Amino acid sequence: MSAKSRISTRHSVVEGWGGYLPPNVVTNDQLAKRVDTSDEWIVARTGIRQRHIAGENERTSDLAVEAAKKALAQAGAKAEDVGLIVVATTTPDNTFPATATQVQAKLGNTTGFAFDVQAVCSGFVYALAVADNFIKTGQVDSALVIGAETFTRLLDWQDRTTCVLFGDGAGAVLLKAADGPPDRAARGVLSTHLHSDGRFKDALFVTGGPGSNKEVGVVRMNGQEVFRHAVQKLAEVVEEALSTHGLTGKDIDWLVPHQANQRIIDGMARKLGLPGERVVSTVAHHANTSAASIPLALAAAASDGRIKQGQLVLIEGIGGGLTWGASVIRW
Ligand code: UT7
Repeated sequence: MSAKSRISTRHSVVEGWGGYLPPNVVTNDQLAKRVDTSDEWIVARTGIRQRHIAGENERTSDLAVEAAKKALAQAGAKAEDVGLIVVATTTPDNTFPATATQVQAKLGNTTGFAFDVQAVCSGFVYALAVADNFIKTGQVDSALVIGAETFTRLLDWQDRTTCVLFGDGAGAVLLKAADGPPDRAARGVLSTHLHSDGRFKDALFVTGGPGSNKEVGVVRMNGQEVFRHAVQKLAEVVEEALSTHGLTGKDIDWLVPHQANQRIIDGMARKLGLPGERVVSTVAHHANTSAASIPLALAAAASDGRIKQGQLVLIEGIGGGLTWGASVIRW
């Protein structure tokens, strides 16, 4: 169903944002002491210079709570008033219950409801779409949308093709309901666009799971294949998102992409005709934090004053599944 065919008398507006990175930073040079790699290779192929790694006692829900608290404070909102908490994560604290319910408990919310969304690196776009639709249907008036990962716990530290790429962190936005349908001139989530194609599972997956071998497993990726899909599928979904509103790349104030590889980010910016100054890139400092990468980048750029209220923001991402998606937001 096209985004245009949905009729709604409400839309959701981003009222708060926040990010959290665990304090422990590991540089490329430090990694090169553990595995056969180099700072030169990692920077040239990915743009990554360092990553944050969660402490032994830090859970995904702990990271999520820190980001959520900032988003609530920024919006002047109270945790107990939030109707819905959606956590996008591929590294839940436990197989069950949902990490979102632990975030709910730690925030002191007992009246709303909470669940996880699993779409790996596209998770935040998926979670935003879910929350936006709950708001549009009138089922909730506010939603915390969180991307949180302790992704480094899925890494095989002997596999240099994956272990240099990822990091841990969390980002959150607080959505609130506003009257009227989404309108390209008004603040709010204009539309969300989601896709998946399970035929490409083997390009990027984890070797374990409770329903298969009962193990957590480790990440395996065919980097070149994922790269090819990223270039093609992200271009398609971004075109779909922009054309829904009669927009072109030039109308976008900020591209806030999933942070996997600076080369993919640069390629998308070129395609959209956007100069580097209008692209938010955190990959050098955060590495790929999976579902956390887009909300962390949003929080960084909104907090330092780059993204201003009323500006047009395009987010996009692709991840395991394969899953991919995009959204246009008037901030
Ligand atoms: O977040 C989900 C979405 N994920 C992505 O978007 C990731 C997409 N893929 C990529 O970003 C890139 O494919 C990578 C960064 C993962 C890899 O870059 P690449 O330019 O595609 O490198 P490659 O896999 O073709 O490897 C080139 C060479 C190989 O050596 P040979 O066979 O040419 O001798 C690898 O063995 O680089 C070698 N290599 C490394 N060397 C040093 C692979 N990893 C490393 C490493 N350090 N860490």
